[in-house]
Amino acid sequence: MAPMFHSVQIAHSKPIAALLALATHYVLHIGEWDNEFHVFLGIWTVAFGGLAAAEYMHDPRVTSIGVAVKVSSVTAIVYFSVLTTSIILHRAFFHRLRRIPGPFLARISKFYSVFAGVLPNFQYYKKTESLFEEYQTDVIRTGPREVTIYCVDAVPLIHGSMSRCRKGPWYASAAHVGAASTHTARDKEEHRRRRKSWDYAFNAKALREYAPRLDRHALTLMSRLKEQARLPSIRITDWFNFYSFDVMGDVGFSRSFGMMEKGEEDPMIKLLHDSLSPMSIFNHINWALNLATRTEAGAKALVDHIDWTGKVLQERAKNIPKENDVFSWLLDPMTSKVTPELNADSRLLVVAGSDTTAATFAWLAYELCKSPQIQAKLRKSIDAIAPSKPHLNVEDVANCAYLDGVINETLRLHPAVPSGVQRETPPEGLTLPNGIYIPGRIIVWMPVHSIQRDPRYFAQPLCFLPERWTAEMPEGVMDKRAFMPFSTGAYNCVGQKFAMMELRSVTANLMRLFEMEFAAGEDGTEILEKSRDCFTTNVGKLDVKLTPRYRS
Ligand code: HEM
Repeated sequence: MAPMFHSVQIAHSKPIAALLALATHYVLHIGEWDNEFHVFLGIWTVAFGGLAAAEYMHDPRVTSIGVAVKVSSVTAIVYFSVLTTSIILHRAFFHRLRRIPGPFLARISKFYSVFAGVLPNFQYYKKTESLFEEYQTDVIRTGPREVTIYCVDAVPLIHGSMSRCRKGPWYASAAHVGAASTHTARDKEEHRRRRKSWDYAFNAKALREYAPRLDRHALTLMSRLKEQARLPSIRITDWFNFYSFDVMGDVGFSRSFGMMEKGEEDPMIKLLHDSLSPMSIFNHINWALNLATRTEAGAKALVDHIDWTGKVLQERAKNIPKENDVFSWLLDPMTSKVTPELNADSRLLVVAGSDTTAATFAWLAYELCKSPQIQAKLRKSIDAIAPSKPHLNVEDVANCAYLDGVINETLRLHPAVPSGVQRETPPEGLTLPNGIYIPGRIIVWMPVHSIQRDPRYFAQPLCFLPERWTAEMPEGVMDKRAFMPFSTGAYNCVGQKFAMMELRSVTANLMRLFEMEFAAGEDGTEILEKSRDCFTTNVGKLDVKLTPRYRS
């Protein structure tokens, strides 16, 4: 009894609690715990719960459970106060990033980004822009172990194919919910191996095979829009979603999602957005995203979406399609076995391939409604292509400079992944071309939205000028490396060329068949104000009026 009593006495001694807190800080500091926070929660619960139980059982002065809880609470308060103070002091004054300028509160916690950057309007990229204006420097500390880098000279070091940076912990935050997709695989070798199949699925030959499917879907969209053109207002953002989902169903899995046919929001689109929307906040507090997705409620939308895309793949694996689709390249041709990794890639295809394209279409429509002159100039270029054909095919519109200019300019001003992608520096750190040293194991972001609007890289950066991408205004792009809506390097967008095919084919046919303007009562406020940065953009609604140019 006596030794036990002494052990309990030692366990709730305040100096020992303080020492344990410092030891905990050390362990937290040297390791990557973003996705293991539940382990600490478990240890703390067992430790302090166990202490209370031991007090109750072995300390003769503790006469009730209430007293036991009170005594161990005092120990917990000492422990957590020392832990928090130690973390705050270290982050604020002693951290390896202490000389990098940035908001003081951002040094202490990523909650700064949530409260000052996300919550005002869910458009964090505006915050990164305002920080750049305020600090006028290329490297800003935006988190305890995070910097945001604004100079394109850093692109090869951070994103280039020879970069020693790897994907940050954000990519693994939901790893316990399902297997890693090719996109979320953090191990470079694993990514390289899996990416090979994706590269085949989107090489020139495969793209040629997908083209007729894209032509069919563009045709369907146009005929549905012709019917809708009778209405004074069309929610065009919905139609772009229907189109991009249907394309992914067909090109990815050789099946129809039938969304354009139904013409109404499918629960699956809502489910996709529900599964992505927590990202707007949780992108910044990785450990909380990980914890939330360990609860049933927090993981529900994600699990449901994974289940749905898993089923879609299971059905696809049972049937060999007549024409090759993306999964013809990803599934093992001998077994067609659906592994958890392929399940994850199934969701990747739907998320990466549909939402990004739909968002880009939405912004493109917004810009064209805002600038009737640009719309007229674009229409003139389109009308010159194969005038005798009723419908322009993918290959007809592959080389229209002004059309590409309009698309590039949309991707420049409104990148679908606006805040960029998370990378982590290698253990030895890296020195940027401007001489600034970033230590090892630091999270780095290159904010695409801000960089693509930087006057150092683009003339009149806030103006929508498709000409800058044509021979008309070559001085409009001063540094092409600053244009990276599809990212760059080994992890860049594998569907980039495919996305361009979609964007060209739909935009060209839309311009050919309709005059487009904002619907009555629409001025673009909703898309400007309500679009949310959830890693990809969940765009606000846009209503347009379409006036057919020809009688059918
Ligand atoms: C305008 C449309 C699109 C934009 C702006 C876009 C942008 C991006 C970006 C920025 C990344 C890098 C993500 C990261 O490093 O975390 C990415 C990756 C990816 N994208 Fe796209 N994307 C678009 C369309 C598509 C389409 C249509 C597909 C498929 C058909 C696709 C498939 C993928 C895949 C599979 C990855 C992961 C690549 C990897 O990790 O190796 N994307 N995309």
